[in-house]
Amino acid sequence: MAVYLVTGAAGFIGSHLVDALLERAGGDTVRGLDNLCTGRLSNLSRLASPGAGSVRAGSVLDRIDFREADLRDFDALLSACEGVDCVFHEGALPSVPRSVKEPVPSHTSNIDGTFNLLEAARQMGVKRVVYAASSSAYGNQPGFPRVETMAPQPLSPYAVQKLAGQYYMQAYANVYGMETVSLRYFNIFGPRQVPDSPYSGVMAKFILQILKGERPTIQGDGEQGRDFTYIDNAVQANLLAAAAPAEKVSGRVFNVACGERYTLNQTYAVIARLLGYAEGPLYGPPRPGDVRDSLADISAAREAFGYAPAVGFEEGLQRTIDWYKAEFRRSAAADEDHLNMIEKEWREGKYRGCS
Ligand code: UD1
Repeated sequence: MAVYLVTGAAGFIGSHLVDALLERAGGDTVRGLDNLCTGRLSNLSRLASPGAGSVRAGSVLDRIDFREADLRDFDALLSACEGVDCVFHEGALPSVPRSVKEPVPSHTSNIDGTFNLLEAARQMGVKRVVYAASSSAYGNQPGFPRVETMAPQPLSPYAVQKLAGQYYMQAYANVYGMETVSLRYFNIFGPRQVPDSPYSGVMAKFILQILKGERPTIQGDGEQGRDFTYIDNAVQANLLAAAAPAEKVSGRVFNVACGERYTLNQTYAVIARLLGYAEGPLYGPPRPGDVRDSLADISAAREAFGYAPAVGFEEGLQRTIDWYKAEFRRSAAADEDHLNMIEKEWREGKYRGCS
């Protein structure tokens, strides 16, 4: 029986990982840490599956050791790492544009926070840390698909921050013999991604806008490409990376993606079709720090720990749309789910205005 710590446990990716860890048989202990800045407690209190309408308050929160704490609080991290075998470090302030607009909190959360976590893990004898690195590290260099051996060319503060965390992971493996694995996520999407912040991922944002009857705006010409990756694939990669023999994964970095590129124009068309929306997008200026294209070679993860994406682009989008539709109906209906956790927590000031 192992003890796992998930940082960012109330966030999009972290909460799915918590669910997956709890779903496995075997009586493992799961501890979760989140400062509830962009994470939502409701992510830990209801089911993720499409159409799962019932709010199950406390269903996950009752089963994990959840701690509300910030990655910049070293003492809280020391305590959180006590007795832990493996950390999944998902906690971060995400978003390229956020890091451009507000570089200081991004820097302190993503670089200082990652360093604190790693050092606390070392001091408490944690065996392995699996880290959420980012495909933004590749930047705009030529050569597709992206292979882990390419020299990074980070374009934005966010890309630098995630890369710095990855280098720290590798340094701790080198000099302290800690087992660290960095997973370079390529545009993960799915249920629970925050849809209504200026810094939301594009899939969640477009889906919610269309559901609300607002016309989405594509920033740039829409011909930028992304290797959009459904959340279940990222969860699978984490669980496999946590269990893989150290000699195959420790100190290494792996792309986690689908190995398929879709332009934003194509993505918009699929979302609009699945939602039965006839309007085209608006177009606006491109975003500073935006990467033009992204497509991963995923053979390293396949060879090292058997990663094989199970949910493709369109199926993932359909599941995501189903989930947001159910969410949207709940908040629109304001009946039983007037106790809709999100709204309730919002009214209680749970999110601290960090969006
Ligand atoms: C980047 C990283 C990704 C990381 C994420 C964290 C790359 C290639 N990917 O994602 O690995 O997990 O940061 O936040 O660097 N867009 C619009 N209209 C909108 C919103 C976005 O056109 O309303 C466009 C953006 O300009 C961009 C694309 O959609 O071209 C994707 O944006 P977003 O979902 O924010 O993710 P990335 O910045 O690509």
